[in-house]
Amino acid sequence: MPSNRTLLIAGNWKMNNDVAEAAKLADELAEALSEVPAGVEVLVCPPTIDLTTVHQRMSAAAVALGAQNVYWEPKGAYTGESSCAMLKSAGCTYCIIGHSERRDYFHETDEDENKKAAALIAAGIVPVFCCGEPEEVREAGTYVKHVTDQIRAGLAGLPIESADQIVIAYEPIWAIGTGKTATADDAQEVCGAIRETLADMFGAELAEGIRVLYGGSAKPGNIAELVAKPDVDGALVGGASLKAADFASMVVKAGE
Ligand code: PGA
Repeated sequence: MPSNRTLLIAGNWKMNNDVAEAAKLADELAEALSEVPAGVEVLVCPPTIDLTTVHQRMSAAAVALGAQNVYWEPKGAYTGESSCAMLKSAGCTYCIIGHSERRDYFHETDEDENKKAAALIAAGIVPVFCCGEPEEVREAGTYVKHVTDQIRAGLAGLPIESADQIVIAYEPIWAIGTGKTATADDAQEVCGAIRETLADMFGAELAEGIRVLYGGSAKPGNIAELVAKPDVDGALVGGASLKAADFASMVVKAGE
């Protein structure tokens, strides 16, 4: 992480915590994160049903709120979906899109992610655009191409004019929820290739400012070595974001 980029430690709660549980975790996080180190930004992304509660409980904390999904249409007959304006009204400034679980279980395509990203950017919400390869692609050795193809397709034609309009999260699927973390060198290799692709698409200056996170079994024990790499600007954290002490410890360690 070069000094001109603010690190981002983002918690992805996935489908965990009902409203009461979310309120409890939000209170614990607000207390544990009462002092966020300089140079680190913190984001929590609870389930949609918990957004308003978490926003209210954490209003005094220096923690940003994000959603885990969005639909690109502004309103209408799209049962079960939430629009950008709805997320904004609940306090969201970020939204995760393209997570491998959305791509795998809900059959979302690069084209879907592109529409979601465009709608979010137009609404002034920052997409946290996820990409990453499955184990067989890693083993075949074609993972850099797989990931950079996702970036090219997912971000094609987006009107990005400043680096803070988008965040990328590289999450190798074989490392998500498995305890199998990519090494810091593995993370750097792909995050560096992502930045080169961003430079090609949006210009070198813009790409230098865009945060590229690593995700996949990131935890207190490995966050420091991950963010020590030049192109790793923080983490998208699943399991370890569900315990206030672990998540807060990652924020502190990232800032050291
Ligand atoms: P994990 O999940 O930290 O539990 O591996 C990361 C993610 O899927 O965002």
